[in-house]
Amino acid sequence: MGAGFRLGSSGFGSLALSTGDQPMVSLGHMKFETAAIHAGQEPDPYTGAVVVPIHQTSTYAQDGVGGLRLGYEYSRTGNPTRTALETCLATLDGGARGLAFASGMAAEDTLVRTMCRPGDHVVIPNDAYGGTYRLFHGVLSQWGIEHTPVDLSDLVAVRTALQPNTKLIWCETPTNPLLSIADVMALAEIAHAAGARLVVDNTFASPYLQQPLALGADVAVYSTTKYLGGHSDVVGGAVVVADPELGDQLAYAQNAIGAIPGAFDSWLVLRGIKTLGVRMGRHCSNAAKIADWLEGKPAVASVLYPGLPKHPGHEIAARQMRGFGGMVSFLVRGGESAALEICSRTRVFILAESLGGVESLIEHPGRMTHVSTADSPLQVSASVVRLSVGIEDIDDLIADLDQALSAGD
Ligand SMILES: Cc1ncc(COP(=O)(O)O)c(C=O)c1O
Repeated sequence: MGAGFRLGSSGFGSLALSTGDQPMVSLGHMKFETAAIHAGQEPDPYTGAVVVPIHQTSTYAQDGVGGLRLGYEYSRTGNPTRTALETCLATLDGGARGLAFASGMAAEDTLVRTMCRPGDHVVIPNDAYGGTYRLFHGVLSQWGIEHTPVDLSDLVAVRTALQPNTKLIWCETPTNPLLSIADVMALAEIAHAAGARLVVDNTFASPYLQQPLALGADVAVYSTTKYLGGHSDVVGGAVVVADPELGDQLAYAQNAIGAIPGAFDSWLVLRGIKTLGVRMGRHCSNAAKIADWLEGKPAVASVLYPGLPKHPGHEIAARQMRGFGGMVSFLVRGGESAALEICSRTRVFILAESLGGVESLIEHPGRMTHVSTADSPLQVSASVVRLSVGIEDIDDLIADLDQALSAGD
């Protein structure tokens, strides 16, 4: 598993970086967990602080007009805490540039408005995150950007959906909430042959489990609210790009549009990233055990988890991911009422939106995270329950699901 992992095309940042320069020193072949702790995070040159300080400032003193000391002039344009995060993000994905945003949706909006113009067309997954669909359907369509929802696991359907004005294939893998798998390498080939670019929303996998740029994608986009932050205490987003020129265009748009994270939020995401590898290991092993356990339970009609050999995307996931992730969805036999009942009965699994934190969450996508897809081609079955499996003790998690699933027996 996990072919194509590469680190080191970016490097350490430090306070000496100007806002336009991220990578300076090569990370060489530093492995992922080491880069997660060190990339962009050299000890503070003034105080020796081992942890990147929270530069809670909006502006920076100048030594005479235009005399910027370390390249910083105003914190929408650049902030040293954010630079550390952006450098780390670029390094972990092997990208030329990383950019941090106020939320995943802010990252997506800035990205599409940088890469597309009115009259352009985007292929989107037919089971994308509800907010992504809402952005394309409810907002960007009004600004002349068309979209076509397609099953991205069907490459013939993807080719058929391409139009002369297709600028992007927008991929999510695994998808939210149905855990479908798309073949990133194949989609990159299709996109590039058509003169388009491939964006991968890598939120569910995180850069620890899947490296879209190494697989041929042009852009990786994240809700850092999820696994990168990892503690359900911050909302954020990120974009990592392979092409430095696109990186410059995005930095321009990031400053011009202004949907940036503050210093404290940048710091929280950076702190979360330090433990991403160890957390993902436990998320994956707990989720795999829960998926196995759910199989064959009388209340469960089917389990959606790419780690299960019967999952239609299992082989592709095994090729392009180093683990199958911490998200598990399942269809309940009793339909919507049974699904809602299960969601209301768990005690350790907290009934809440979002995912990717250390604590386990349960939700009903049809009524919660994906309500924006109602009556659309992306509508989620009312029988689906989604689990974000945390890193608690597996016995407690299974005991909780057991009592929730068997209460109606
Ligand atoms: C796959 C995916 N992409 C993007 C987003 C949007 O991120 P945010 O909520 O940080 O704006 C989410 C949020 O749930 C998501 O699950």
